[in-house]
Amino acid sequence: MSRIADHTVTAPDRVAQVRSAWRAAWDQGEVDALDDLLSPSYVRRRGPAGTPQDREQFKESIRAVREAFPDLRTEIEDVVEEGDGLAVRWRSTGRHTGAFLGVPPTGRPVEVSGATFARFGGGAVTEEWVTFDSRQLLEALGIITTAHGAAVDSDLVRGVHRKFITGVTVVTTDDDGTPRGLAVNAFSSISLDPPMVLVCVQRSSSTHPALHRASHLGISILAAEQLDVAKVFAGKGDDKFDRIAWTPGAFGPPLIDGACARLEVEIGERLEAGSHTVFTGRVVSACHTDLAPLVYSGGGFFDISHTAPLPW
Ligand SMILES: Cc1cc2nc3c(=O)[nH]c(=O)nc-3n(C[C@H](O)[C@H](O)[C@H](O)COP(=O)(O)O)c2cc1C
Repeated sequence: MSRIADHTVTAPDRVAQVRSAWRAAWDQGEVDALDDLLSPSYVRRRGPAGTPQDREQFKESIRAVREAFPDLRTEIEDVVEEGDGLAVRWRSTGRHTGAFLGVPPTGRPVEVSGATFARFGGGAVTEEWVTFDSRQLLEALGIITTAHGAAVDSDLVRGVHRKFITGVTVVTTDDDGTPRGLAVNAFSSISLDPPMVLVCVQRSSSTHPALHRASHLGISILAAEQLDVAKVFAGKGDDKFDRIAWTPGAFGPPLIDGACARLEVEIGERLEAGSHTVFTGRVVSACHTDLAPLVYSGGGFFDISHTAPLPW
């Protein structure tokens, strides 16, 4: 690396400097090697939603990645330079042997590729923009899945699902003053502390766009005598809420009157999975009654209030 007295790095050196600091920091964990390359006022940005990182935060994030992927290797596949700008196309590989993004080690090989655009000023990088395919990473860690060809016949799977007994909920949201909702049996508790639940909603549902942009959703678990309500919300139409009795919840979503239990949920993640979106969230209000729930099994609806409990 050749530097001249005023610490201005001549253009041909920049590529070599980036390559060597990059290899030291990412592949060998010598993050202080970045001090020569990155200005003290360095800012790293990742898309409009990402929180900018300063130099120390960036070094800390490299340490965290290396703890999760100790055998990390990064190939610089292309470097293009123009004026004060330098673009790098890179590809990183490593085995996931330490916790990362809350995921315990999976032992899986992970490959992520992306591009970084750096701007030089006064001989050092002052700003950097990084973009990479986060789907590739999340999928490799098993956080999300992309639908691949069906491995099992869908009728067979449908037959299996018919053996699973569920309740029936109405999942609702307030869409800028318009109540929207649909019947959902794909509802589950996730955790009690903190209280979290999930619902799965098909992207083709007309309620889906409103749910996707909402901050909160409502879940009303229907009572045995609410078969008519289930039919309304299993159907289509803009008049669903004109046909049943409902009350706005404290956080906005409409809640069905006469339901045996009702929740309001602050939406957390919206995970794309096959044809559906899995909405997870934190329960922010809850109430239940003594009414028996409506039961859905094998494509039919049941009132189980007169069934005998088995000895346990
Ligand atoms: C018992 C029952 C359970 C249902 N569960 C779900 C579900 O979990 N997720 C889903 O997206 N649709 C589910 N549906 C289908 C929707 O309620 C139905 O497609 C509805 O017409 C969608 O309305 P929308 O397009 O107005 O939102 C279920 C229907 C029934 C009858």
